[in-house]
Amino acid sequence: MKITDSYEGTIERTLFTEDEISAAISRLATQIAEDYSGQPLTLLGVLKGALYVIADLARALSAVPGGPSEIIVDYLCVSSYGNSTRSSGEVRLLKDASVQITGRNVVIVEDIVDNGLTLSYLRSLLEERRPASLRSCVLFDKPYHRRIDVPVEYVGLQTPDAFVVGYGLDYQELFRNLPYLAQLRPSAFTEG
Ligand code: XMP
Ligand code: MG
Repeated sequence: MKITDSYEGTIERTLFTEDEISAAISRLATQIAEDYSGQPLTLLGVLKGALYVIADLARALSAVPGGPSEIIVDYLCVSSYGNSTRSSGEVRLLKDASVQITGRNVVIVEDIVDNGLTLSYLRSLLEERRPASLRSCVLFDKPYHRRIDVPVEYVGLQTPDAFVVGYGLDYQELFRNLPYLAQLRPSAFTEG
């Protein structure tokens, strides 16, 4: 795949290849399919970061025999980082889910958990709506700087302690379209 010119020279190394990500998503789909076998399931993707995870996980789930009886895919949109690599510590709901989750089995699908504030905020928000069950699934876990010990029932891959991009994750809105997960060169960061 051709990397666009603005990405040239900015990537330090690949952390997880496309194939490794795809294998991790298959593992997550197998676990979730077993746990919700024969039951209806609502997947709530957290945009923008989870745009590829939710799409790939939803399709992987429908490929597992004996999985959920039906799958609803919806999304909500939050922002905590702005354009920085450090969390503002403040989570804002930019767009709410559009489906009703009262009495439903819900799995929140996130790209990455870092300090835990985003997932913790979302779990409290969604619990108030009285779902039948509420769990979280993250593709990437960065466990080094948790500020809240939020439960994450399904974890894909553990990243090193670095700011990562690709497969939905961005730096200043760039790099989301990389099909793999990468670490940027320090010189790529324009902030101090
Ligand atoms: P928290 O810290 O609230 O983080 O658990 C969750 C959200 O923060 C973003 N995040 C990152 N985005 N590279 C990114 O592009 C990273 O290394 C990174 N770490 C955290 C992400 O949006 C996630 O949903
Ligand atoms: Mg995210």
